[in-house]
Amino acid sequence: MGPETVKPSDSEVIEVFTELAPRYAQVVNKELKRFWGWGYQDFIERVLHCIPATHEAILLDIATGTGSIPLGLLEKGFDPRNIHGLDITYAMLSLAKRIMGKNYTGIHPPNLVCGSGMMLPYRDAAFTNIICGLATHHMQVRDLVAECSRVLQEGGTLLVADAGGSLYWKIPGVKLLLRVAAYIYFSLNENRKRAWAEAKAVSNVLSPEEWGSMLAGAHFHRITIEKMKSRFFFVPSPLIIQASKA
Ligand SMILES: C[S@@+](CC[C@H](N)C(=O)[O-])C[C@H]1O[C@@H](n2cnc3c(N)ncnc32)[C@H](O)[C@@H]1O
Repeated sequence: MGPETVKPSDSEVIEVFTELAPRYAQVVNKELKRFWGWGYQDFIERVLHCIPATHEAILLDIATGTGSIPLGLLEKGFDPRNIHGLDITYAMLSLAKRIMGKNYTGIHPPNLVCGSGMMLPYRDAAFTNIICGLATHHMQVRDLVAECSRVLQEGGTLLVADAGGSLYWKIPGVKLLLRVAAYIYFSLNENRKRAWAEAKAVSNVLSPEEWGSMLAGAHFHRITIEKMKSRFFFVPSPLIIQASKA
């Protein structure tokens, strides 16, 4: 059994990202630089670096947002017909479609789907690679991992890149403090709705140990978890998590 996580309301998340969509790249770049000391493009490149280019790959980017990861996969030479993106916020996806349409004529818009990472609209064993960047904290991680396990082929790989917690967060009061800090930061720098969504999301930020047990329980093996650089000890460090479906 892994840790229990709380499911933030989908409608709250959609509202937040619908408002954020036109400013997304600038805002996320500013936030990653402030908290982790590296920019959004560095983050995307770090993720792409983990995906070896093969002709047979059929890839799904869960919570694809404005499509930065699929765009990077296109640039790496993956077959556009085999690149899929899913996101729950239509405004983010429609921006992804616009950005891709501008840069690539070979993109297949039907591969961009509006849906939930916790209930994937794909058949079993449909993909060789699943990627999920900066989004697991908005979902109930157990459901996401179970769905990834279902739609991955045997030997397929899951790559998650997101903020990670620490076992110290289990000390009573620590998570509450972090929630309050997130609420205050995002209220001052963004807006109340974003502040509320990010404060709630603290419950879904898992430590490397929690990720390890959650993945092992969902039939993943060869699990590697790399803790990346963060600027401050009290800010959740980015984790790059890779695992194969057994
Ligand atoms: C911080 S953005 C990350 C976008 C993209 N992966 C990137 O790296 O730029 C988080 C995204 O997660 C999406 N999201 C949140 N909950 C989701 C869910 N349950 N299913 C699918 N997408 C979700 C949001 O709509 C938003 O586009």
